[in-house]
Amino acid sequence: MWSPDAARSFVTWTLAHGIQRRLILRSARRGDLLSRLSIDPAVAADPFPSYDLLRAQGPLVGNGFIHGTATHAVGDEILRSDAFGTGGGHAELPGPLRRLHDRIADPDALGPVDPPSMLVVDPPHHTRLRKQVARAFTARRVGRMADRVESVAGSLLDALEGDADFDLVERYASLLPVAVIADLLGVPERDHRRLLELGNQAAVTLDPALTWRQYQRAEAALRDMHRWFADHVSRLARDPGEDLLSQLLLLEGTDRLTRTELHQVGLLVLGAGFETTVNLIGNAVALLDGHPDQLRWLQDNPDGWPNAVEEVLRHQSPVQMTMRAALRDVEVAGVHLAQGEAALVFLGGANRDPDVFSDPERFDVTRTNAADHLGFAAGVHFCLGASLARLEAAVALRTLYERHPGLRIAGRTERRGTRVLRGFERLPVSTSAGTGMQESPVNR
Ligand code: HEM
Repeated sequence: MWSPDAARSFVTWTLAHGIQRRLILRSARRGDLLSRLSIDPAVAADPFPSYDLLRAQGPLVGNGFIHGTATHAVGDEILRSDAFGTGGGHAELPGPLRRLHDRIADPDALGPVDPPSMLVVDPPHHTRLRKQVARAFTARRVGRMADRVESVAGSLLDALEGDADFDLVERYASLLPVAVIADLLGVPERDHRRLLELGNQAAVTLDPALTWRQYQRAEAALRDMHRWFADHVSRLARDPGEDLLSQLLLLEGTDRLTRTELHQVGLLVLGAGFETTVNLIGNAVALLDGHPDQLRWLQDNPDGWPNAVEEVLRHQSPVQMTMRAALRDVEVAGVHLAQGEAALVFLGGANRDPDVFSDPERFDVTRTNAADHLGFAAGVHFCLGASLARLEAAVALRTLYERHPGLRIAGRTERRGTRVLRGFERLPVSTSAGTGMQESPVNR
């Protein structure tokens, strides 16, 4: 006999994942490309040939259930268009099911793609939330964080002195972003590791069509995160600091955020702050390992690091896809979408569009238009942390290779099992005589 909480969880999963999982599995078995891109682990490991196939089928392709694009022009158009909204994070569901989902979902277990997460609410609600959070991410404030990022990178490398072999993700790429975002949100150092663990377990909730087991594990992590967050917010309310959350707690009148808004926005910034940047740094190290000539060039021309970061964002986008729903009947690239119909935007595919990037498979840190990628999306939901992520990655990489010029991948790498987020779980490296990367689908 199930408890009322377990029953509620199961119904929430059925609506958000279970129904679509059945439909997607069935059409993936029939070879439907959009479904395979959403669910097939082999396609997730190397989605790029599937993006090419999708692009060859047309600028916007439908399968009767959902549409999808891997072109830069249509991806950009959909993301910037006011005819599209986020569909409340579950754009693929018919309106009544979506509303039922939102009504029954437990506020203490909401994930990054559940309203009122900023990521999945539309204007004017989105405008109100974004305005408050954006204060922490102005160019001036991010510029002021440069010294702190340098010093975190330096301390992490100091702690590695004497270790010739280590896992780059565990000891460096994950720890740098978590320390930076923790500063921004007033999180004490003793909580960093625990938050990283929980964030890793919860990151899968960005993916479509989870199994019940995957969902249960992620939901348990989300509950723990909400519990931790409630305690953290109470501490800050008693003893406010300079951080973003303390400022949000001080808002008054119509600006004031509800408890659920504060939790969802805070947890989104926290998770987005480290779950993506870790992948950017890891993907960069893997790509540079496969292109030692380009690494040498960067070591001789350190001003090239920012453009190299753009090229990594383009070539191995840490966020591979997002979704939108038509707010009204609309025509895109000659395809009619009725109000409520959803479209997947494959950012990683748009970033390999040969109409924009010549020889798109080639990794080239000197590519002049690398920054035209859609790796941070576009339009009103353009990544709020983009300048911070760029800064962190450029500093992390430059400092790493200054300290360890001969760093190479030495051993078997392992990718994360997530689909929306693309990155590495394990990147064993050696600072002495590395052997180079074994098995490198990343270097296509
Ligand atoms: C490599 C690093 C990062 C990548 C690739 C990335 C990518 C993205 C993308 C693609 C979106 C838009 C999603 C959509 O439209 O559906 C987004 C939104 C967002 N990102 Fe990032 N992100 C990164 C780092 C960060 C960092 C460091 C932070 C915060 C410290 C952050 C905070 C946010 C927030 C708050 C949003 C929601 C914005 C909104 O809905 O208005 N991101 N990010």
